[in-house]
Amino acid sequence: MKTNSFEFAYEVYDSIEELQKGDAALLETARAITVQAYAPYSRFFVGASVKLDNGQLLSGTNQENASFPAGICAERTVLAAVSSVYPGAVIHAMAISFRSAGAASNHPISPCGICRQSLIEQEKRQQAPIRIILGGQVGPIFIISSMNHLLPFSFTGEELDKG
Ligand code: THU
Repeated sequence: MKTNSFEFAYEVYDSIEELQKGDAALLETARAITVQAYAPYSRFFVGASVKLDNGQLLSGTNQENASFPAGICAERTVLAAVSSVYPGAVIHAMAISFRSAGAASNHPISPCGICRQSLIEQEKRQQAPIRIILGGQVGPIFIISSMNHLLPFSFTGEELDKG
């Protein structure tokens, strides 16, 4: 028997002022777009913004539903938009932020499991890593260099019969 281990390094910044200009602008966009979220049930308003290889910025927000499972997270909203509006575009980075009726937005949140799976699919598809920038409206920021780190042992569909 042997034991394997998994670890990854990520960057931690004290505030947005420490980020490079492009990352700071993307996080500002994600922070601002949270006001467009439709989240009357959770009152947890999430924004996700991406920077594409064609220079475009696109954003998405969570869109809830009275039938709760019909809701969609901000991350998957923007992934669907990218794939629909700019098919084939490479996502260089995604910034994720939030505001909440019930909690201070002074720390990062990270994507849910379903969104991680969708982000992995996009990384596979574009064959380039997506930088993930996580931050609240204020406070510390985490930067993760690839989605691979956030979903080890992911199911990638390589075993599926594509014939
Ligand atoms: N949500 C997101 O949009 N992204 C995340 O990464 C976590 C959760 C949304 C889903 C739901 O509308 C609300 O936040 C509370 O879970």
